[in-house]
Amino acid sequence: MNANVEVRELCKRYGSKKVFEGLDLELGEGVIGLLGPNGAGKTTLLRCLATALTPDSGRTEILGLDPTHWSQRTELRKLIGYLPQNPGLYPHFTAAAMVDYIARLKEVTDRRIRKGEVQRVLAEVDLAEAAGTRVRKLSGGMRQRLGIAQTLIGDPKFLILDEPTVGLDPEQRMRFRTLTSRLGQGRTVLLSTHQTEDIAALCDRVIVFSEGKVVFDGTAPELADAASGRVWASGTQPAAAQVFWRTADGRYRVVGERPPDGTPVAPTVEDGYLQFLGAGARAGA
Ligand SMILES: Nc1ncnc2c1ncn2[C@@H]1O[C@H](COP(=O)(O)OP(=O)(O)O)[C@@H](O)[C@H]1O
Ligand SMILES: [Mg+2]
Repeated sequence: MNANVEVRELCKRYGSKKVFEGLDLELGEGVIGLLGPNGAGKTTLLRCLATALTPDSGRTEILGLDPTHWSQRTELRKLIGYLPQNPGLYPHFTAAAMVDYIARLKEVTDRRIRKGEVQRVLAEVDLAEAAGTRVRKLSGGMRQRLGIAQTLIGDPKFLILDEPTVGLDPEQRMRFRTLTSRLGQGRTVLLSTHQTEDIAALCDRVIVFSEGKVVFDGTAPELADAASGRVWASGTQPAAAQVFWRTADGRYRVVGERPPDGTPVAPTVEDGYLQFLGAGARAGA
């Protein structure tokens, strides 16, 4: 098997609420974006892959290990780096103490090795100089990098980042992209986002997730291409059933059927995404 991660027939529900069922997925090396609207089930899927949540049924193999088997699961947790959607960083810990704490959880028991590892991962995310700074004194971008630093303990081959770009300003976003594309070399990096800009700039592969289903799986240019011949500029407001919005020049951008006065426009990744979201993305929905 070439894939680092293989998922078959995965099902997860919360009570009577079904998040996904019969989900199949294979992930190889590189940066893979899981793109989908809020409530699509991204976090639930990532938590299942991070072994933070037990699926109801299905088979998962990660880095050759089976997370339903307790000893393999323990092993696996050391091989996965997971940044939750709302990482619980302790405000009174220093950056180094925070990462050290995670390293202990990952059973890096040797003190000298752990110390070296803490320095290494802080340096990787450009936080070496902030090692002694308390978490509460770090800027938003620094906290986010600290969150990523803790995922790198033990050099895991599978990184799971849940909405890692939320709250970043453009400069921090840029930095994050540079860091992530570097991390994607020789690893599987699976990140979730609801923002198409991240995807276009960063991901080797995009999986569009909508209501618990994979509705697109391909590259960012292929996602844009999916809306080819379906994007229009129009001077008049389209019917409510159409996906459209008003652009800065006062015209309407329409994804779908050609409006009466529509002129064709080159599609973007966002257009492709909206096309796949269909009903949920319609104006007013
Ligand atoms: N702990 C939970 N209990 C009940 N329902 C949940 C729980 N977590 C998530 N959900 C529901 O499952 C669906 C998927 O949520 P989530 O995986 O968080 O989606 P996303 O990360 O794509 O926004 C949503 O409808 C959400 O309300
Ligand atoms: Mg989420």
